[in-house]
Amino acid sequence: MKTEVLRMLKEADGYISGQEICEKFDVSRTAVWKVIKQLEAEGYLIEAVRNKGYRLKTAGDILSRAELESSMKTEWAGRNVLYFDETTSTNTAAKMAAEEGAPHGTLAVADYQNMGKGRRGKMWTSPRGVGVWMSLMIRPELHPSSASMLTLVAAMAVSEGITKICGLETQIKWPNDIVAGGKKLCGILTEMSTELECINYVVTGIGINANMEEFPEEIREVATSILMQTGKTVKRSELIGAVMESYEKYYALFMESGNMAGLLEIYNSHLANVNRSVRVLAPGNEYVGTALGINEAGELLVKTEDGAVHQVISGEVSVRGIYGYV
Ligand code: BTN
Repeated sequence: MKTEVLRMLKEADGYISGQEICEKFDVSRTAVWKVIKQLEAEGYLIEAVRNKGYRLKTAGDILSRAELESSMKTEWAGRNVLYFDETTSTNTAAKMAAEEGAPHGTLAVADYQNMGKGRRGKMWTSPRGVGVWMSLMIRPELHPSSASMLTLVAAMAVSEGITKICGLETQIKWPNDIVAGGKKLCGILTEMSTELECINYVVTGIGINANMEEFPEEIREVATSILMQTGKTVKRSELIGAVMESYEKYYALFMESGNMAGLLEIYNSHLANVNRSVRVLAPGNEYVGTALGINEAGELLVKTEDGAVHQVISGEVSVRGIYGYV
């Protein structure tokens, strides 16, 4: 009921009478008053005026289960929310939920991660109150070999979600970093559980640097935030809602073919690597070439000086001008 009352308050033009809420949920005035008090305790400023009712005065950047649920406009993505004030890693939380039978589309969100995980065993800095630390768990009917493309789908959703919420145009650094101003704004870490021929579940962990004003020394040169790029803070719950909405749209397009065919154009139009000099750090084979874009399998096509076009499946790719590659 708290989520629904919050949604009503958010969507209302002015005041909502206590009577209206009582009737909608078939509860007493005291029950409504209790929910309002709970919301106030979570940080919402709610005005109560005799004979008029309740009005949401401000809704700052609050994260809670009710806030997230009331920001979701999707059919399934993020409809089941697990919210943590603090956790080790939302990827770990989402994987545990998957093992316990949580439904497709379950989203784990934390205000703070004390053991945030990055790719290649690195740590992911996840300070309290300023970032989007979330992991979406899905159960796709796909061959395990196609799962890596889901990371590309998530990258597209993040890029679009950010633009929708604050107008900031971002680029995707293949396969799945989101960059702005030549620095990293978001990282994605996909983990999965598979059988021989099928996927049990995929967890896509998304870390968006939203409202940081600064970064620790070690990553200052390579990291940025939405606040640093736009000068404005974003409401994280709205951003999460927007990313989930875009994810649902791009996931449906992806599942039509099971590959990137229907998403090729949009992905490539956001790709930071296109027509730029890139250094491919494949295991035991390092070379420089020009990136052409991705193909239907989500591989990065890189043309070397001898005219050969290489299909890069995985591995590190540095783009000239991004993260200090000169
Ligand atoms: C990278 O190295 O670029 C990937 C970073 C992924 C960070 C996110 S934050 C939410 C989720 N939980 C984690 O522990 N990691 C991912």
